[in-house]
Amino acid sequence: KPYVVGIDIGGTNTVFGIVDARGNVIASSSIKTGKFADVNDYVADLKAALTSLLEAHDAVDKIAGIGVGAPNGNYFSGCIENPPNLPWKGKIPFAHLLHEAFGVPVALTNDANAAAIGEMTYGVARGMKDFIMITLGTGVGSGIVVNGQLVYGHDGFAGELGHVIVKPSNGRMCGCGRSGCLEAYCSATGVARTAREFLEIRTDASRLRDIPVEEITSKDVYDAAVLGDKLAKEIFQYTGEIMGRAFANFVAFSSPEAIILFGGLARSGELLMKPIKEAMDRNMLNVFKGKTKLLLSELKESDAAVLGASALGWEARQIPAPPS
Ligand code: BGC
Ligand code: NA
Ligand code: ZN
Repeated sequence: KPYVVGIDIGGTNTVFGIVDARGNVIASSSIKTGKFADVNDYVADLKAALTSLLEAHDAVDKIAGIGVGAPNGNYFSGCIENPPNLPWKGKIPFAHLLHEAFGVPVALTNDANAAAIGEMTYGVARGMKDFIMITLGTGVGSGIVVNGQLVYGHDGFAGELGHVIVKPSNGRMCGCGRSGCLEAYCSATGVARTAREFLEIRTDASRLRDIPVEEITSKDVYDAAVLGDKLAKEIFQYTGEIMGRAFANFVAFSSPEAIILFGGLARSGELLMKPIKEAMDRNMLNVFKGKTKLLLSELKESDAAVLGASALGWEARQIPAPPS
């Protein structure tokens, strides 16, 4: 069979694509992830959308396997467990549900792990043996590659660097139920929260004051900063400092050749990169100083995770176990 399907389940959108053996995305499409509180309704929606994409490309019987990247996805169990930014609760046997829907082998891993696999196979991490992928979206995810292999840990959940605590006291609530996580500050939603906080405590003028405060997005902050808005620039400075300090700690953990950023926020250019680099340097242990590159994903937006998930689709020889 010539194709696999890669599915990237994001906090906001689910992107899926038909991919050939060379890593060409033949066709892709998306649905909203959080539209249904019941995961079975979501799977039905995904099934309908994916089936029509497969039909449109005459690929219904040409799929060797499906690879899935999902928040809180576990490679060992094929389950998604209590994803912080999605309405589904408990331990969901997602690989099994998709296998039932499509009748082909399914492999599932964490979404950021899938992005790391995509980057390693097709992107800027080709040839790298040690790197850390950081995905900046609705949440903050990570895929840690050590000696050419993804770190899964003893339970399959390793690499949840978005939930490293960066504010030990009075930290913001995080979707994981704790407070002070990196994700609560440095995700796209975290940046919007920072904007709301800054606007509330401060009195200086800002373009951001023209937007209803609940509607401000990280993109609005970016647009304002590009136009020279002082407050918006400070929001990036604040975000980058927190990230850079966290990244310096990550470097001490696995000495990566590079930290690779992925996701819309990563495209903020020097507004974000400069404060990150400065804070990394300031907080870096001497032996590591200047040795870790900070890079951006080379893959087209959303492709890294879809491609990474698809790479997993080729490996998905085993039929997922039924829920226990
Ligand atoms: C989840 C991670 C996921 C990340 C990005 C976090 O909230 O805990 O598993 O990789 O969001 O989606
Ligand atoms: Na991970
Ligand atoms: Zn958290």
